Amino acid sequence: PIKLIIDTDPGVDDSMAILAAFNSPEVEVIGLTSIYGNVPTAMATRNALTLCHLAGRPDVPVVEGAHKSLRGAAKERIADFVHGRDGFGNTNPPLAQAAAAPGSAAEFIVGMAGRHPGQVVVLALAALTNVALALHLDPQLPEKLARVVVLGGAFHCNGNVNPAAEANIYGDPDAANVVLSRLPNCWMVGLDVTHQCLMTAGQIEGMAGRGRHGTFLRDITQFYLGYHRKVYGMEAVYVHDAAALAAVLDPTLFDWHAGGVLVVTDGPAKGRTIRDEGKKAWVGGNEWQGLPPVRVALGVRSERLVSLVLQR
Ligand code: BDR
Ligand code: CA
Repeated sequence: PIKLIIDTDPGVDDSMAILAAFNSPEVEVIGLTSIYGNVPTAMATRNALTLCHLAGRPDVPVVEGAHKSLRGAAKERIADFVHGRDGFGNTNPPLAQAAAAPGSAAEFIVGMAGRHPGQVVVLALAALTNVALALHLDPQLPEKLARVVVLGGAFHCNGNVNPAAEANIYGDPDAANVVLSRLPNCWMVGLDVTHQCLMTAGQIEGMAGRGRHGTFLRDITQFYLGYHRKVYGMEAVYVHDAAALAAVLDPTLFDWHAGGVLVVTDGPAKGRTIRDEGKKAWVGGNEWQGLPPVRVALGVRSERLVSLVLQR
């Protein structure tokens, strides 16, 4: 199986992805690293530990990541209005008391990639700060990692923070540029495909009582469903993070298009992801030239994807 590190801000859809990963024979989850986004970093760590406990996998290390973006804002954006103040849809489940493993998330990623060269996939489900810091720590990391699969970006559609930006890229656009410019093997699963992957209220209800995790996921998803009802007017939720896991499990679920990707770092379009479609003979030089090709998911077999996620 693929050795998987999940970098995460749990988070309702992160919880779906993490529990589904624990139930997937294609991957061996070798650690979770935490990051701010849906909740502050310390809470992301605590929630990740709770998910490992719930899954009966207290052996899986959880390592705390960065508390701030590379540029360091006074206060990072926290999406508690989407995921609840506790990141678990305000269900306030009992939290695991286990401690995080020592060291930083970036050190953990570097250490694991060094120990298992060519075998580790990082599934990045939040701002890319930890992955960027790992690349700063070890310039050889790109050759050691099998790949990084990012849940993030919006290429031919609006974002979800504002018309320009998707939340994870918006969380640290500088870090995104570090990751997208240095990794030879990076995949992006963004809103172009996740906004086609809907899990209905009925499907969410159907998780209750199914397996060890179904009732927990049904319960924490109610608040997230309420947000989708209010903001998007639908009786369904978008499947974001679990779609990126699905890309690890079965890449044939997506249509992939390769090209260099740059992220806007300032101004009203901060967080916008722009891919070189490679169709034109550009006149003169540009900033995309020389970037490694990123594989961007632009089409998806959404029914197959959602049933895979529900099954896991
Ligand atoms: C992404 O932002 C976070 O709120 C979700 O967990 C997901 O990773 C969607 O834009
Ligand atoms: Ca997330």
